[in-house]
Amino acid sequence: MPTVVVLSGAGMSAESGIKTFRDSNGLWENHDIMTVASMEGWYKNPELVTEFYNQRRAQLAEVEPNAGHIALKHLESAYRTVIITQNVDDLHERAGSKHIVHLHGELTKMRSTQYQSDVYEVGYDEKPYGTLCPKGTLLRPHIVWFGEAVPMMDEAIKLTQEADIFIIVGTSLEVYPAAGLVDYTRSDCKKFLIDPNRHSELKMPGLRVISDTAAKALPALVNQLLAEQA
Ligand code: APR
Repeated sequence: MPTVVVLSGAGMSAESGIKTFRDSNGLWENHDIMTVASMEGWYKNPELVTEFYNQRRAQLAEVEPNAGHIALKHLESAYRTVIITQNVDDLHERAGSKHIVHLHGELTKMRSTQYQSDVYEVGYDEKPYGTLCPKGTLLRPHIVWFGEAVPMMDEAIKLTQEADIFIIVGTSLEVYPAAGLVDYTRSDCKKFLIDPNRHSELKMPGLRVISDTAAKALPALVNQLLAEQA
């Protein structure tokens, strides 16, 4: 089976009702990104940061995967399909995709502030600041904040190198190291970019730009790819 690797960003979930970052003037749901998504922000006001992620979790419980998420699940019938997402939502999982790498963490998990690898499933529950893990250490959101390493990056690079087809969808490609992943694709890899607001500014040899939304363009592209394998 050929391998499809998808790199998704905030635009992937826009049609599910979750706002993108850079279309909101650098604000994340009316908060400055550095206040709620950086180590500095956490040290300055951990109560506010905790409450912010409680709200994001509650919001996530109210939204559903869109036609784009669902289309990607169908790719699995003919392609080894890997989704590398910058999104912290669980909409790819809820659409049924099996192999998902979360580069920037997951809203439905928290981890120990002391032991990085102690990660706990919390679902959509509210967890007030001060909640402790079973070992007695303070829990924090399981989110990769600005100023932190991206632990899944090596795995994402390895998977990108294995791609026969690489689909970039709903990301401004402004945040590194995620934005640099595309440079690891092989020269014979077919590359697509789906974004309604970006046209030709990405100069990448062989890149096919589809200027449409994820929920419209992905079902069509997936149908085309499935027909090629039939
Ligand atoms: N379908 C596809 N793309 C869309 C849609 C849609 N319906 N709506 C908007 N977009 C595009 C925008 O044109 C933009 O290029 O999605 C992109 C969203 O870009 P950003 O808001 O910058 O989101 P993203 O690239 O995921 O941000 C990367 O930045 O703040 C950090 O950690 C955060 O993971 C995030 C990272």
